[in-house]
Amino acid sequence: MDTRLSVEVAGLRFRNPFLLAAGILGITAGLLVRVESAGAGGVVTKTITRNPREGHENPVVYELECGLLNSMGLPNPGIDYFVDEIARAKELLSVPLIVSVGGSTPEEVAYVVRRAVEAGADGVELNASCPHVERYGVELLQDLELFEEVVERAKDSARTKPLFVKLSATGDLIRVAETAIEAGADCLVAINTIRAMAVDVWAQRPVLGGIYGGLSGPAIRPIAVRCVYELYEEFPDVPIVGVGGICKWEDVAEMLLAGAVAVQIGTAVAYRGLSIFEELALGISEYLDELGLSSVRELVGRAHRG
Ligand code: DHB
Repeated sequence: MDTRLSVEVAGLRFRNPFLLAAGILGITAGLLVRVESAGAGGVVTKTITRNPREGHENPVVYELECGLLNSMGLPNPGIDYFVDEIARAKELLSVPLIVSVGGSTPEEVAYVVRRAVEAGADGVELNASCPHVERYGVELLQDLELFEEVVERAKDSARTKPLFVKLSATGDLIRVAETAIEAGADCLVAINTIRAMAVDVWAQRPVLGGIYGGLSGPAIRPIAVRCVYELYEEFPDVPIVGVGGICKWEDVAEMLLAGAVAVQIGTAVAYRGLSIFEELALGISEYLDELGLSSVRELVGRAHRG
């Protein structure tokens, strides 16, 4: 293991900056352990809500040339069931476990965060940016007062554990980020998928059962890089985790140079499998060799140097 890859983010130590993004494989302890064994530096679960959710009607995923469109509808067993899975994952994992939390009210979010942390989560990621589930995502960001209260309650309930807030590229990124920071966010995660859709030209209707979905993958990577860059310009002292379309080590390097201290990988795991984590580690280690750097931390924000 290359110790130069180790990073600290909001008080959590990761053996490398390549984390599993929310929504991919993070639904059982067994799967999370497989992701750790494949080399991930940390893992984020599927978004968990207070009550169980069945999710949207099929089809829920549609593959495009430039990425993936999905409209799962936040399916999950609910936090009261998921606490056992968190506890089991915590027993088995050595890398940090971050639980992604969704909710439509401050009370709901506070409850899920509290139970997740009591069950052993090392950190919590607030998903206030899902692009297509009514009341559970970007709508929260459109009402900044409500969003502020959600973040405050989430932070209160997380107690000493760090609160990551996942942002959307749509809307007023900087104002939303500022609100999140003032309300107690310890780290910003940028970006969530982007609201999009596809129409089937023969059926002559929307492809996805939920009509709208979130676009992920290479199509959104330059948008994610732009958001990370803007956030770093504005809030250089707040840790940023970059996510969106990362497939190759060069994509990781770009995110770090733009200002991210770690990255999350989602769609590339779905496309290419778990070997991606080792490939990225190898690529970034060679990049550090080439540049003669002793820590990946030295790359963070370098693109901003005058
Ligand atoms: C879903 C949630 C998200 O936050 C996202 O980016 C994509 C899909 C969902 O469960 O539908």
